[in-house]
Amino acid sequence: MKVGGVTGSLAVVGLGPGPACWLAPEASAVLEAASDIVGYQPYVDRVPERAGQRRHASDNRVEIDRAKHALTMAAEGRHVAIVSGGDPGIFAMAAAVLEAIEAGDPEWRALDITVVPGISAMQAAAARLGAPLGHDFCAISLSDNLKPWSIVERRLRAAADGDFVIALYNPASKARPERIHDTFALLREVKSATTPVAFARAVGRDDERIALTTLAEADPAAADMSTLVMIGSSETRFIDRPGQTPWLLTPRSYGVGR
Ligand SMILES: C[S@@+](CC[C@H](N)C(=O)[O-])C[C@H]1O[C@@H](n2cnc3c(N)ncnc32)[C@H](O)[C@@H]1O
Repeated sequence: MKVGGVTGSLAVVGLGPGPACWLAPEASAVLEAASDIVGYQPYVDRVPERAGQRRHASDNRVEIDRAKHALTMAAEGRHVAIVSGGDPGIFAMAAAVLEAIEAGDPEWRALDITVVPGISAMQAAAARLGAPLGHDFCAISLSDNLKPWSIVERRLRAAADGDFVIALYNPASKARPERIHDTFALLREVKSATTPVAFARAVGRDDERIALTTLAEADPAAADMSTLVMIGSSETRFIDRPGQTPWLLTPRSYGVGR
């Protein structure tokens, strides 16, 4: 697409949750072909270095500046890949890029922009756990950087009321250590004490740790910023296995009984 007389492109690329074997072939090809890699430092570090390719690593929480920088370079004719962990459309850079386009230079709308999907943390965690997302579920980020905490509470209550399985992203960080404790306190008011809970930490990485428990027994402090917390519905159950961690199952049929 020609913008200002030059041809450039921007791909918003999902890197998956960690290991290279979970990177989609399309994502690999786009990363190889890019003239510039843009992203949060730890994600840029996951992209193999290539001769002649420029790398622009930035701090976390500067997503809009990063998106504008990537769009500016694409408008100058560069072939830019902006990288996200997991899927770029889930709590990640695809929305930041479109927000920057919506508010920015009208010429950016004519750029060649693609979103390349990746495996999201909840999918990777679900694969390790068995089949916790076999029925209706929702994803809620516990970060209140971009939304008031009151809306998180409202959504947690609504998700519990609707008996969804709940995948909790961004459960805790150094700046927000208490929100996961608040979340468990709220869920304990409205859901059964025996509800299965899983802490899936650093899935696919060397320091992966999976822990299964119940809502009553869960220690919210087990969650950090690399953890996906899965809260079951009333139908979610453990399937015991000899000598191994049980599977987690949310069956496809609701209310049929066991
Ligand atoms: C800003 S969100 C990005 C989500 C990402 N776009 C995705 O689709 O997975 C970051 C959160 O994703 C979750 N996460 C990312 N990678 C993970 C992994 N390998 N294992 C468990 N959770 C992960 C954690 O909850 C983390 O706080």
